[in-house]
Amino acid sequence: MEKIIIFDTTLRDGEQAPGASMNSFQKMEVATQLEKLGVDIIEAGFPIASPDDFVAVSAIAKNIKRSAVCALARCIYKDIERAGESVKKAKRPRIHLFLATSKIHLKYKFKKAEDEIVSIARDSIRQARKFCSDIEFSPEDATRTEKDFLFRMVEMAISEGAATINIPDTVGYSYPQEVFSLITDIRNNVPNIDKAVIAIHCHNDLGLATANSLSAILAGARQVHCTINGIGERAGNASLEEIVMAMKTRKDVFGDFYTDIDTKEIYRTSRLVSKLTDFVVPPNKAIVGRNAFAHESGIHQDAVLKKRITYEIMDPRDVGISESSLVLGKHSGRHAFRQRLKNLGFHLDEQRLNKAFQRFKEVADRKKEIFDDDLRIIVEDEIRVVKPLWQLLSFEVSSGTQVKPEAKVMLKKRAKTLCGVSSGDGPVDACFKAIDKITNLKVKLEDFRLEAVTSGKDALGHASLKLKNKGITAAGRGSSTDIIEAAIRAYVDALNKLETR
Ligand code: KIV
Ligand code: ZN
Repeated sequence: MEKIIIFDTTLRDGEQAPGASMNSFQKMEVATQLEKLGVDIIEAGFPIASPDDFVAVSAIAKNIKRSAVCALARCIYKDIERAGESVKKAKRPRIHLFLATSKIHLKYKFKKAEDEIVSIARDSIRQARKFCSDIEFSPEDATRTEKDFLFRMVEMAISEGAATINIPDTVGYSYPQEVFSLITDIRNNVPNIDKAVIAIHCHNDLGLATANSLSAILAGARQVHCTINGIGERAGNASLEEIVMAMKTRKDVFGDFYTDIDTKEIYRTSRLVSKLTDFVVPPNKAIVGRNAFAHESGIHQDAVLKKRITYEIMDPRDVGISESSLVLGKHSGRHAFRQRLKNLGFHLDEQRLNKAFQRFKEVADRKKEIFDDDLRIIVEDEIRVVKPLWQLLSFEVSSGTQVKPEAKVMLKKRAKTLCGVSSGDGPVDACFKAIDKITNLKVKLEDFRLEAVTSGKDALGHASLKLKNKGITAAGRGSSTDIIEAAIRAYVDALNKLETR
């Protein structure tokens, strides 16, 4: 099997993502975790860019022992000197030099001819080799570079001693077949190519960074540049977790290759990078997004409960996530609902389960995700009252700063539908008075409380209260995403208890 070298550039290209900057202590923390993850090379920064970057690269070079530590430099002497200085204490130092080679960059950025570019690169590689024996060279914008000129640059860089040639798709313009052909052409047209490792560096402007990197591997690249969570310039870089897990999962395609990544550390690394950069991982991000191993559809949940592989191609434990989750929401089915209740310790008979499921669906229509605490309340509501005398059918309220609160409540008593209308000091008071008109009971309200059970603006509100009638007190509870409905449910619950005493 052939090893694919993982070159992590989270701390350099990743940190170039607008707003992702980290201080030197935070970078050290990430580097330590990257080493634990098993990356072969940590590109720790661009030392000429700022004094803090120089400090961070130097500290990482001094402390990291297993991974090689790399510093980036333009083909400019002061960059090379600074990069060399920053990695000099590393056990395995590397300098990564880059110089653009595409016609667009030569014409508009440098205003230089091809021969001049070749000579600048040659001098820079020679200078860099005085600081460090391990040199990686990148012809920037390689995928938009004239092929003959690219071959010439690569051949020169290898003959000057660059041990790794990186092919950057700097602007994320390529597509997988094109990358495959380019790497194949480099292998077939650069005479000394067998003296260097070919690396690939893809950006994600068209969402193809991972696909392009994998294609490069299939064509002969043996080192891949990537970042945690795919962070990087503009739309980001190829994401480490996607490349590594694609290779691990698709053994039928990538069975000849392996990486030294400890995949169980992936999730922890992703969380750390997200926390330190303040870059939220999108919920649907492959491998590490909150929803990557979550199922909501009833059909999927049912099948996953029967056999996980029906809808999961990876085991979440392989990336350090303890288990997949069945998110209860409006698409969920009875199977997942029953399973979750079982996990929470509720064992309902079929009739109660059906009632609780019906109520769960009503709540799920109004609330995006149903948490365990929501479920407890829903189920407790259902198992407490077996045959209620009073049942809430519907209610309407009008209220506001300029209008007197009014309420219309419809209750069911056995087979009869009854309606009460009242005004009140507030919408809840108006509802309670409307109910009193229906029941004709002179109840006294005591100890009314309202609280949110879970967080978020669609949280389930939970109301609890006590009603007193002829010296007897009964407590009632109710819940809903609508706090007025929660209050009414609690009131009706207490009334039912009064009636059964
Ligand atoms: O995208 C790019 O071309 C780079 C180079 C520095 C390799 O990040
Ligand atoms: Zn880049």
